[in-house]
Amino acid sequence: MARIKTIGVLTSGGDAPGMNAAIRAVTRAAIYNGWAVKGILKGYEGLIHNEVKDFTTESVSGTINRGGTILRTARSKEFMTEEGRAKAYETIKANAIDALIVIGGNGSLAGAQLFAQEYDIPVVGLPGTIDNDLYGTDTTIGYDTALNTIMDCVDKIRDTANSHNRIFFVEVMGRDAGFLAQNAAIATGAEAAIIPEDRTDVDQLATFIGRGVRKSKNSSIVLVSESKKDGTGGAQYYADRLLKEYPEYEARVTILGHLQRGGSPTAQDRILSSRLGVAAIEALKDGQRNIMIGVKDDKIVYVPINKAIHIDKPIDKELINVLNVLSI
Ligand code: F6P
Repeated sequence: MARIKTIGVLTSGGDAPGMNAAIRAVTRAAIYNGWAVKGILKGYEGLIHNEVKDFTTESVSGTINRGGTILRTARSKEFMTEEGRAKAYETIKANAIDALIVIGGNGSLAGAQLFAQEYDIPVVGLPGTIDNDLYGTDTTIGYDTALNTIMDCVDKIRDTANSHNRIFFVEVMGRDAGFLAQNAAIATGAEAAIIPEDRTDVDQLATFIGRGVRKSKNSSIVLVSESKKDGTGGAQYYADRLLKEYPEYEARVTILGHLQRGGSPTAQDRILSSRLGVAAIEALKDGQRNIMIGVKDDKIVYVPINKAIHIDKPIDKELINVLNVLSI
């Protein structure tokens, strides 16, 4: 592999709090090692259309505490085409970029892998998504902040829920993963979580009702994953079913939506992003490529991108049990 002199960095897909801390870490660690840094704007769109900026240590000053991504981001349809990736490679050559760091979720890392295979460019991925759905890492950039944001919102909903005899269905993000719903339910003392991973023949709504709603509690809050597998799912779906199947209950729906992706990153996300960013540069220095940097048991790990995007990350059954035990 040719010696690296310049790296490119981009954020892609949904933004996540902590992405700026990761950009900062990648930039400063690269410069620390004598490399130049090119910040690529708007994800793969900027790579296709040559929207590239020279990054210095000052470019990332005052960003560690900021949500969103200073590089901006996009979900690029064009990069999914061969022509799009060919244009992107022109930008790589025009800017003498020797290696690419991609901060994003599943789809973004899948794009990175394809690009690396087609054009033989070293790529390192950083898991940037609030969904926490990437295999091989215990946590992803933005997940902890989103979890805390959801917790704050549900604490507020609890105040009104306590005052009424209603079941509140609170829908949270996660695409097809239930990490946010399950762990937010534990953190807020919710009565149940409805998550895609726990789909069995037993209906999760029926199980919840069957356990005896309001047996010993003043309020009923159910965290519902947004996942709509098989055309069913989401908070409104369960609220509608409740009204039909259990008309003795009153339901209310709150969809938290994109507010879950905003805000200043938590300490945990800032530290995670900083560690992952530095490790990405170390990995490139060691000649590694086509890997995602992750954290397992608080240690940095290197996961083949192929595994990170293709293996399902399971939810620990222990978490499901904890909620069941504590929500009696
Ligand atoms: O992957 C992050 C995520 O926030 C998911 O939780 C959600 O399903 C999706 O992105 C929303 O995407 P968009 O911002 O494009 O509507």
